Amino acid sequence: MHIRNVREEDHASIITVIEDWLGCRPTPDMLPKLFFQHFQETSFAVEENGQFVAFLVGFVSQTHPEQAYIHFVGVHPDRRKQGLVKELYERFFSAVQERGCTEVHVVTSPMNMGSIAFHTRMGFEIEPGDGEVDGVQVKTDYDGHGQRRVQFVRRLTMAEKVERPHSETILAQTPEKPYYAVIFTSVRTPGDNGYADMADEMVELAQNQPGFLGIESVRDADGIGITVSYWDSEESIRAWKENGRHLVAQKIGREKWYESFVTRVCRVERAYDFNRGGQGRLDG
Ligand SMILES: CC(C)(COP(=O)(O)OP(=O)(O)OC[C@H]1O[C@@H](n2cnc3c(N)ncnc32)[C@H](O)[C@@H]1OP(=O)(O)O)[C@@H](O)C(=O)NCCC(=O)NCCS
Repeated sequence: MHIRNVREEDHASIITVIEDWLGCRPTPDMLPKLFFQHFQETSFAVEENGQFVAFLVGFVSQTHPEQAYIHFVGVHPDRRKQGLVKELYERFFSAVQERGCTEVHVVTSPMNMGSIAFHTRMGFEIEPGDGEVDGVQVKTDYDGHGQRRVQFVRRLTMAEKVERPHSETILAQTPEKPYYAVIFTSVRTPGDNGYADMADEMVELAQNQPGFLGIESVRDADGIGITVSYWDSEESIRAWKENGRHLVAQKIGREKWYESFVTRVCRVERAYDFNRGGQGRLDG
């Protein structure tokens, strides 16, 4: 299973699959292409064997920057109740929290009991409305005359930020000194342009390179990132730099993905660590 940000070209395929998933073609105004053009950073798709199995389209409110909104979510009927959409929601929570959001909003039809049950399970609360359907608060003319909607809100907590599913936050387990660190500091260009997929592929490839010891990587909402990879020797670092697929990534990086970057190769002479509840290591 592979979760990635959506791309513009996904729109046509997703429109086709949701017709099968929902049993009807959504009207073009329900899921217009603009979401796949302008909200890539907060919209995600899950692929398996090259096929879409789930997706989520959402964004950060421009009017209320502390609020995020999930506009559309879909999952293949054979893959429901397997935690797929929960994982997409958690990825979305993490992405919008990094952009400063403290709450997520969703609206759904009062007839969609599955969606109401799912959102309640996911910790969303129903906001007070001006009417009720089967004991559920609704806003009666929310989307126009007679277009009732249940309004959900989910507050994001700090704990979720710390426990976000990204493995990039995990500290590398490096061996006794000496070893080598490659510090790659970069500023991204706007848009994804295939970057996230290639970044995942590079981490996987590097992990299988001789001499690879670990990696730590972070990127902020402004696109400034620091990735430190650890290696047993300078020879291993050189071999990785010359890896064929890595050379392709380096070329595209210069052409499309980076405004600027600096790579620094260092020898680690000393290392200290701290782990709350665990043993610290003094290696000096
Ligand atoms: C509603 C929907 C998006 C949920 O996706 P999903 O991948 O099946 O949900 P998950 O497996 O991630 O479920 C997460 C949790 O919600 C619960 N849940 C999901 N659907 C539920 C339902 N219909 N009734 C009760 N609980 C439900 C799951 O049991 C799970 O709980 P757990 O964490 O305790 O195990 C999906 O079933 C769907 O697409 N339904 C049809 C279309 C639709 O209603 N779209 C929503 C428009 S807003």
